Amino acid sequence: PTIYVITPTYTRFVQKAELTRLAQTFLHVPQLHWILVEDSPHKTPLVSGFLASSGLAYTHLHTPTPRDRKLQEGDPSWLKPRGAEQRNEGLRWLREDRRGQPGADTQLGVVYFADDDNTYSLKLFEEMRGTQRVSVWPVGLVGGMRYERPVVEAGKVVRFHTGWRPSRPFPLDMAGFAVSLKLVIANQDACFDGDAPMGFLESSFLQGLVTMDELEPKAENCTKVLVWHTRTEKPKMKREEALQKQGLGSDTAVEV
Ligand code: UGA
Ligand code: MN
Repeated sequence: PTIYVITPTYTRFVQKAELTRLAQTFLHVPQLHWILVEDSPHKTPLVSGFLASSGLAYTHLHTPTPRDRKLQEGDPSWLKPRGAEQRNEGLRWLREDRRGQPGADTQLGVVYFADDDNTYSLKLFEEMRGTQRVSVWPVGLVGGMRYERPVVEAGKVVRFHTGWRPSRPFPLDMAGFAVSLKLVIANQDACFDGDAPMGFLESSFLQGLVTMDELEPKAENCTKVLVWHTRTEKPKMKREEALQKQGLGSDTAVEV
């Protein structure tokens, strides 16, 4: 089965660096189709050029997060969900526009939501490729913990190891599950709720799709960490700004 990876992304200094890291991981994964969705009212030249030269099979989409749902400068990062509209746009493409792609005549496939800043082991993709409905595994460095994970007993998920509101329907990070394309297509209404309270974005999507006892544990019964919720530091631009004031800023024609 093809793995369809949906990635929301937005313009910032580290964007091209993040996308380069991601693309060069994906280049090692057989049968991967990257659905990159820009949080923007238009496709940007940076991302268009990047994808064209990436060597990957891809679909380039865009949709802006409505202003009232978007984090503003100075807001704490947890205030509003990020990437919800973009993931929904990726789902819409899979359900409506996938025609014309190799393998589009079948419903064989796996859908994974990969944020642009996390770190992914190649082993993760082989684990998820066998997903029947919804597969799950641990995520490292998330939720203020070394890892969060589903707890497996006798091959079934019985609860979740998480430090925060374990009563959530699915207390899983976005990076911790994959869904079969068949299930995505059979449940046309399943989508991410951009108004979901903190920590409930993943549940808003999974709730309608699956129950806890149907989850398929991967990564050796959820004992191995194959994805890390890394976050990239925002670069400081103090010198750049000082030089710009003197007319000596870096050449804006150089893409970074
Ligand atoms: C955590 C989870 O890992 C995310 O999957 C979840 O979407 C997020 O919380 C949330 O609660 O909304 P975190 O590292 O805090 O993630 O979020 P980011 O990595 O900053 O953003 C998640 C994705 O959305 C990234 O791919 C990012 O590029 C994208 N994004 C972020 C946008 O498309 N627009 C934005 O304005 C911000
Ligand atoms: Mn992140």
